[in-house]
Amino acid sequence: MPAVATNPTLKGVHLTRTYGDGAKRRAALRDVSIDLFPGQLVLLMGPSGSGKSTLLAVMSGLLEPDSGQVLAEDGGDLRDVWTMTPKEREDFRLRTTGFIFQGYNLFPALTARQQLEIVLKWGGYAGGAEARRQADDMLEKLGLLPNRHKKPAHLSGGEKQRVAIGRALVKDPTFVFADEPTSALDWENGQRVMELLRDAAHDRGASILVVSHDHRLLPYVDVYYHLEDGHLEERPLIPAGH
Ligand SMILES: Nc1ncnc2c1ncn2[C@@H]1O[C@H](COP(=O)(O)OP(=O)(O)OP(=O)(O)O)[C@@H](O)[C@H]1O
Ligand SMILES: [Mg+2]
Repeated sequence: MPAVATNPTLKGVHLTRTYGDGAKRRAALRDVSIDLFPGQLVLLMGPSGSGKSTLLAVMSGLLEPDSGQVLAEDGGDLRDVWTMTPKEREDFRLRTTGFIFQGYNLFPALTARQQLEIVLKWGGYAGGAEARRQADDMLEKLGLLPNRHKKPAHLSGGEKQRVAIGRALVKDPTFVFADEPTSALDWENGQRVMELLRDAAHDRGASILVVSHDHRLLPYVDVYYHLEDGHLEERPLIPAGH
């Protein structure tokens, strides 16, 4: 377990979110509060439809909550992500956040390598040969270097998933949100991905929130939450051998 700083870098405070109107109205989050700390890998589990993707979207600045706050550390201050202007929020996300979508959301026209290069270029991290080197470095860690010239249509589901993971991690983000990042992977590649996520947290101080249904991920994480029917509860991690 790494040393964890005392102050959270991202706080969800009394978050609620409903979808639909009238009789179709349905609460996805009911008063959820969560603190994410630097250097921590956090697992979020719960049944299908319990609100996991909704919580990730709200915490990452993609989906506005009905009430509550998302407070993010930015340059020493805690800022409410949802009182920023859309432009400020977009800049903040570009600078600080990596998101691995449940459906991957790759760009159909770009090769595996270009998906990573473009993130480095857009965020102003690296360009040209340096962006290519960093992209290839990450693809190598994911076992994808031989696939670097392939577009999504020619990649398997698990390969697409790993490209999406590389795209989220290549810029070394402060916050990483991963929605079922190992769902399409065999266990060997799943372990490789969890090791990369754990390194990003423990070695580089990222705050990482991972959604999964897979109990085999538990030994990799520092904190474990269960979400059910829009309610969040921290659960103890049972040490190995117990
Ligand atoms: N855009 C939407 N419009 C209407 N209802 C939605 C929308 N997105 C999610 N919901 C509903 O909100 C609830 C929570 O959805 P969410 O996608 O957060 O669940 P989840 O825990 O991620 O599920 P899964 O494990 O299946 O991915 C579900 O009942 C879902 O049907
Ligand atoms: Mg989901």
